[in-house]
Amino acid sequence: MHRSQGRDHFPQFEEFFDRGLIDEVLGLVKTGKEASVYCCRGGPALGIDLVAAKVYRDRQYRFKNDAVYQEARGREMGLRGRPLRAFEKKTQFGREVQEGIWRHREYETLELLHAAGADVPRPLAAANDVVLMEYVGDEDGAASQLNRVRIDEDAAGPLFQRLIDNVELWLACNRVHGDLSPHNILYWQER
Ligand SMILES: Nc1ncnc2c1ncn2[C@@H]1O[C@H](COP(=O)(O)OP(=O)(O)O)[C@@H](O)[C@H]1O
Ligand SMILES: [Mg+2]
Repeated sequence: MHRSQGRDHFPQFEEFFDRGLIDEVLGLVKTGKEASVYCCRGGPALGIDLVAAKVYRDRQYRFKNDAVYQEARGREMGLRGRPLRAFEKKTQFGREVQEGIWRHREYETLELLHAAGADVPRPLAAANDVVLMEYVGDEDGAASQLNRVRIDEDAAGPLFQRLIDNVELWLACNRVHGDLSPHNILYWQER
């Protein structure tokens, strides 16, 4: 990870600093398809040593091949009135509505699945395009993505079963992972 930086470098984390949720940004963990993830020192209001802050990218860099989201029905997502019409017409405002829903949904899904006992990071807070969640890893580095580790044959069976148990749990919560790949599974301390 890179060297640590204070709040001045991260205006989008302002609210987390103010609320005592984080004290310091320790470094960039990874830049993904949709977001960049930072490792932060938890603040006094949290009482957790390390936390992950997922910063969503600007809308303009996404929603180019957004067929799945485009097809999602505004009404099914609980929209009514002006937000619904804007969403259907895909106006600028409509896209902002869509974006907000999309981010909020990721946070809600983490909450739901964590409460159900799934192996997902515990969501801690959300504000300004950033989701704060439990960090998987330690001071020396974040957990590895599954595609980057070698696992003994003996250990692979139980791990695979654990994954299938998770998929079943998500299904029981009416959730399907839209992008379940080794890139999106973290391996940490044999789990
Ligand atoms: N809570 C976390 N703790 C440690 N590393 C994380 C955490 N969340 C994400 N990462 C790392 O950041 C990468 C990108 O995060 P991800 O949520 O998959 O974003 P995207 O939707 O952009 O792919 C992950 O593959 C993982 O390596
Ligand atoms: Mg990912």
